[in-house]
Amino acid sequence: MALKRKDLLTIRELESDEIHLILDTADSMKEIASRDIKKVPALRGKTLINLFYEPSTRTRTSFEIAGKWLSADVINISTTVSSVTKGESLLDTGKTLQAMRPDVVVIRHPVPGAPKILADRLQASIINAGDGAHEHPTQALLDLLTIRERLGRLKGLTVAIVGDISHSRVARSGIQAMRKVGMDVRVAGPPTLLPRHPEELGAQVTTDVEAAIADADVIMMLRIQRERQGPTLLPSLREYSRLFGLTVERVKKAREGVLIMHPGPLNRGVEIAPEVADGPYSLILDQVTNGVAIRMALLYLLTGGHAATN
Ligand code: CP
Repeated sequence: MALKRKDLLTIRELESDEIHLILDTADSMKEIASRDIKKVPALRGKTLINLFYEPSTRTRTSFEIAGKWLSADVINISTTVSSVTKGESLLDTGKTLQAMRPDVVVIRHPVPGAPKILADRLQASIINAGDGAHEHPTQALLDLLTIRERLGRLKGLTVAIVGDISHSRVARSGIQAMRKVGMDVRVAGPPTLLPRHPEELGAQVTTDVEAAIADADVIMMLRIQRERQGPTLLPSLREYSRLFGLTVERVKKAREGVLIMHPGPLNRGVEIAPEVADGPYSLILDQVTNGVAIRMALLYLLTGGHAATN
């Protein structure tokens, strides 16, 4: 089975069977990481460009590793050293890159919809690596893979997403992905960090973090995105940590063995206590590992690869 689309821009556009196809393909890709020589020829002769207009550690590095393990030629463009600093527009940068015939362009951009601008105009496959507060589809997919790997299923599970919901592209993509595969989602955060129309999220919404995490199978903590907030939304980080942070005491009130996730980067001691982030139920580093597998799967499927049929 193949993924019949040129680009991956949003979770919203994916059917649930496409999500399962990507997860199953990523599962089969994981074996490559355990080899002595981490290299297969699946993308030999293909060119991948990583075009990042915002900082990234996990997403950019994992796309680079994924491309290299699949034998693609990988080029990283940091906008701080590209002609973007000379005023070149996104579209002109995109046309310039297209003239060099890449097969895939991975883009992170602060403006919602920027990946679609390229997708509508370039022949290359475009993958959204995060566009403003809009979507981060590959993060949602790696989160699903991580939960399925640990709990053996997705349907019927309950996830509590806690923190800065309104500025979070991770929450926006995550909620949609979870709903599409039959999971229940609760979100919690201070009123100033919840969206103005919370009913549009498709999740139960509360300002009571303990109500949100009670009986949840998974707790996903979000980073406080100071860079996307105005100065008045969160007057005190200490108060935020006391009211909404995931402390050892709060975890004790949740379900025994509840799984703890965070997309990173972490603000230790703000939204999550270090003992929880490094504790036995934390899947934070599994999320990073699975990020490589999901990105290998997407590069493979978007460039015409087929999932193995059992
Ligand atoms: N989760 C995530 O997108 O991390 P980076 O910003 O480091 O890519």
